[in-house]
Amino acid sequence: MPRLSAVALLVSALLAVPLSASAAPVTVTNGTQFTDTSGNVVHAHGGGMIKVGAHYYWFGENRNPDNTFKAVSVYRSTDLKTWEFRNNVLTNSSAAELRLANIERPKVIYNSTTRQFVMWMHKENGRDYSEARAAVATSSTVDGNYTWRGSFRPFGHMSRDITLFKDDDGTAYMASAARNNADLHLYRLNADYTQVSTLVRVLWRGVSRESPAFFKRNGIYFLVTSGATNWNPNQQKYATATSMTGTWSVLANVGDSTAYRSQTAFVLPVQGTETTSYIYLGDRWAGAWNRPVNESQYVWLPLKFPTSRTITMSWHQRISIDTATGVVHGL
Ligand code: GAL
Repeated sequence: MPRLSAVALLVSALLAVPLSASAAPVTVTNGTQFTDTSGNVVHAHGGGMIKVGAHYYWFGENRNPDNTFKAVSVYRSTDLKTWEFRNNVLTNSSAAELRLANIERPKVIYNSTTRQFVMWMHKENGRDYSEARAAVATSSTVDGNYTWRGSFRPFGHMSRDITLFKDDDGTAYMASAARNNADLHLYRLNADYTQVSTLVRVLWRGVSRESPAFFKRNGIYFLVTSGATNWNPNQQKYATATSMTGTWSVLANVGDSTAYRSQTAFVLPVQGTETTSYIYLGDRWAGAWNRPVNESQYVWLPLKFPTSRTITMSWHQRISIDTATGVVHGL
């Protein structure tokens, strides 16, 4: 808890109100749809988060009933349970090529030089997966309307499941599934983060890894990925490296054989006063039971670190999150 003045303590005691909106641990129930503060279902499927000030902003897919693109929606929260809908930051009317489209796995990072929030996503034509393009959109505010910057195949390579990672020195990377998902490519982004500057390496060739998610803990880089079985869940695996551009370890299993019926979307670091925890954010895709994407559920589980370069993940119906202290645990 931050140091508090005697007056603040007195006022707090008199009013019997918490001193910070995010001070208390909250409980998140897995295998459910979440609702926002207006009681609507949260549509942030295949999404990612970025912390700006006190708020975690959650971006993700919001689909039409036929699974075509409706919007990239953004919600925000200080406690990771109370989600306020902020905006549909990208919609069918944001660009001509979005009128009929499919947008998957949007991720946002902030460029402190250009002061722009930069979104990368997977773009398809709304009918099939033949385009295999990456797409970029930018905004000067985190939850404002994003400006479409176009879609393309990075250096001509197919690009499907996608993620971003911004390192502490501001160098940013994009990884995406190439060659009909057989290979996973790692690209470095240019200075303004709107283009690829180099293909750093093929992380894995011919092993069909999808849904990449990077994070960094105590100087070690981690990458969590799924196999490629469409909407059906499969064994998630992870690898580690001491530098993004260095050699990555062999893939090792994490979680059970279906990641508790989910697929990786993102790994969220929750940095608090006591510790930093890392939460696996997964999608339990409704496509697995032949229902539309917007009926998908969320599976959030704390990652554990038996050693500095290994992770484990076990099932919990409910987890406790305290964004003030950073303590996250299964219940
Ligand atoms: C998954 C992929 C999802 C979506 C789905 C469609 O493998 O991770 O983002 O593209 O296939 O079947």
